Amino acid sequence: MFEELKGLAAAQGDRRIEALFGDTARAAEFSLTAEGVLFDYSKTQIDAEARAALLALAETRGVAARRDAMFGGEKINETEGRAVLHTALRNLDGATVKVDGEDVMPPVLDTLSRMEALAKEIRASDITDVVNIGIGGSDLGPVMAVLALAPYHDGPRTHFVSNVDGADITDTLKRCNPETTLFIVASKTFTTIETLTNARSAKAWLAEHGVSDAGKFVALSSNLEKAGEFGIPAERVFGFEDWVGGRYSVWGPIGLSLMLAVGPDNFRAFLTGGMKMDRHFQSAPLTENLPVLLALVGIWHNQVLGHASRVVLPYDNRLMRLPAYLQQLEMESNGKGVSMDGADLPYNSGPVVWGEPGTNGQHAFYQLIHQGTRVIPAEFLVAAKGHEPDLKHHHDLLVANCLAQSEALMRGRSLDEARGKVADKFEGDELERQARHRVFPGNRPSTTLIYPLLDPETLGKIVALYEHRVFVEGVVLGINSFDQWGVELGKELATALGPMVTGEQKVDGKDGSTAQLLKFVHTHGRG
Ligand code: F6P
Repeated sequence: MFEELKGLAAAQGDRRIEALFGDTARAAEFSLTAEGVLFDYSKTQIDAEARAALLALAETRGVAARRDAMFGGEKINETEGRAVLHTALRNLDGATVKVDGEDVMPPVLDTLSRMEALAKEIRASDITDVVNIGIGGSDLGPVMAVLALAPYHDGPRTHFVSNVDGADITDTLKRCNPETTLFIVASKTFTTIETLTNARSAKAWLAEHGVSDAGKFVALSSNLEKAGEFGIPAERVFGFEDWVGGRYSVWGPIGLSLMLAVGPDNFRAFLTGGMKMDRHFQSAPLTENLPVLLALVGIWHNQVLGHASRVVLPYDNRLMRLPAYLQQLEMESNGKGVSMDGADLPYNSGPVVWGEPGTNGQHAFYQLIHQGTRVIPAEFLVAAKGHEPDLKHHHDLLVANCLAQSEALMRGRSLDEARGKVADKFEGDELERQARHRVFPGNRPSTTLIYPLLDPETLGKIVALYEHRVFVEGVVLGINSFDQWGVELGKELATALGPMVTGEQKVDGKDGSTAQLLKFVHTHGRG
């Protein structure tokens, strides 16, 4: 499928990205602004021919039809027989969205109103701390967004417990007062062992402190029955349907911790941002469609050029958890080895996604991005303006660093330039040797997403942009981006291993390595 594109890439030979800027219109022509967000992909090897071929691929793979099927409530998650309608959660104008002939919007809007009523009640109460207990999509979205919108916090302190490692809940509860803490049990299925274990420990903690758990728990789940069995009364349970995937769920009840932190109006602004990006994605032609272009740049780098990883570098400290959030979004969605029809995927699945905020990463792993032997396409994010008017000089430095990094990746430093840097210190062979260590190959691709200010609406736009990007990539690759069977095997084996770890069951039928590790636990971890 990528042969033509690979041919175009090969024909580019050793052309340098920098040389493309001989065309003074390059920056404008290879960037796109939508909903106030500018995406600049001019510092890549994509030229007019490559872009046309990528867009043609999106066309032939049926991106537009699949997009319309998704928004139209068709069951495009074919391996689970479900529609994919997280977009309905931010469909604030309430336009009808049907699944199996039923309009899903009345219950969605009703749940949103119930959440708002609860948020108002809690924010006006003596609750000082809220602990969201959840994992994966029931954690990463809210954590990322709560951190991102710190300047808008005016509610109770928000904490997140995800790991089954008892260290997580212990360290969190040390900062909380049992009398004034509210627990949110966030689990789509309400069967996730980590979340249930932590939720039970939270109950035990209240009991230990002689505090009744009445009114102290809220559940966010699509499994209302199990939430009820846990003892949370129906009026404190906020449900959502199976057409909201875990990693796409921050827009609905799973976003309650965010709503408590920033208030219902800011939460609505976040939803509005998401909805605006939806409308853009639905209506813009593919050639001017931001999620489509973002996806195609990713495909160019991964499936066409073979760069297996993608680094996300937000020059926005409050987006510190965005890389982790995108890791789940991208890798759980597009980390699949078979196409929708069950055949082996004949090309790379989605990329490895990782990253850290700049400028911190510059002092840690950028060395490898600049001089390592592998090319790692970088995705920078930065706001034109910060939230700290008194610290404007900080923001100026931040922006300068962000722009400098993408420039450095592209330009590099030649051997001649490197010699010039050390010519006053060394000479002869030693000058040559020292200079070579200071060479930057350059020609390393990057993109930059720049937005005015990281406010709730902008965050909504950014998150929805990435969701749709992952969707478009999945459609082009022909995979189902909405299941996650790859997480099941480990869960099953952990369940089976549990009694062998505790010693209730004899170690049997295990490979030598697993048996040896269990023996170590039994020797050093008991008593
Ligand atoms: O481990 C996979 C997964 O199912 C994720 O997709 C999901 O976000 C997470 O576990 C948590 O699931 P739940 O919200 O049902 O507890």
